Amino acid sequence: MNAVVLLGPPGAGKGTVAEVLVGKGYKHVSTGDLLREQIALETELGLEAKALMDQGKFVPDDVVVGMIRDLLQSSETSAKFLFDGFPRTLVQAERLDELIQTMEGRIDQVVLLKCPDEVIVERLSGRRSCPECKAVYHVTYNPPRQDGICDSDAVTLFQRADDNADTIRKRLNVYAEQTAPLISYYEAKNLIQPVDATQSISEVRVAVLERLG
Ligand code: AP5
Ligand code: MG
Repeated sequence: MNAVVLLGPPGAGKGTVAEVLVGKGYKHVSTGDLLREQIALETELGLEAKALMDQGKFVPDDVVVGMIRDLLQSSETSAKFLFDGFPRTLVQAERLDELIQTMEGRIDQVVLLKCPDEVIVERLSGRRSCPECKAVYHVTYNPPRQDGICDSDAVTLFQRADDNADTIRKRLNVYAEQTAPLISYYEAKNLIQPVDATQSISEVRVAVLERLG
């Protein structure tokens, strides 16, 4: 089992980059998407997660690590994972290392999408997402062919509940406090590949593909 981790602040473009890597044989795992699926299904886990996510707070480590453990244990050992939005605390990073070790796998690279706060606010304010295929659009930078409709499955796009100015600010603070320390954690393991995420979508995608060789 091999893995690439996409690390970066909310709105840096993790999901947008992941879309091209799926075509390269990676299995895309976004803990945010997995949690939103639970919310849509109105499960107990989903209801608890929604209350936290709507406030821009993290879901407890045990919950997300449990979801990832189930997923890894039910996957082929030859799978190549692309983790998007996981790990995002030091505890999660350590638990992932343990899980991967027991499966005799490894993290190949950690791609760090670097993006300043003011760019992020504009990106998240204009984001639209498909509830079916999870494709990510932007009203200006990546508009769908038909306004408000997904190109792939013709479903109406939605705006995420946590993409309002107030919650975006909170998410950026939580990132700085809890996730940014992962940069040194992975630097110490020589795994960080930085990418300038302020470039255009296609330039960022090319840069990430180059890093992954
Ligand atoms: P999650 O869904 O992972 O959200 P996030 O980390 O805040 O990141 P986003 O999905 O908002 O941004 P992105 O980097 O994917 O950007 P995107 O490609 O969409 O998590 C949501 C919540 O779930 C968390 O707050 C937390 O509560 C909970 N959660 C999830 N995982 C957890 C965990 N491990 N532990 C605890 N809690 C967890 O792009 C953004 C916009 O910009 C789009 O409109 C896109 O079209 C546009 N765009 C992208 N790239 C470019 C570019 N290069 N140029 C111009 N526009 C661009
Ligand atoms: Mg995302």
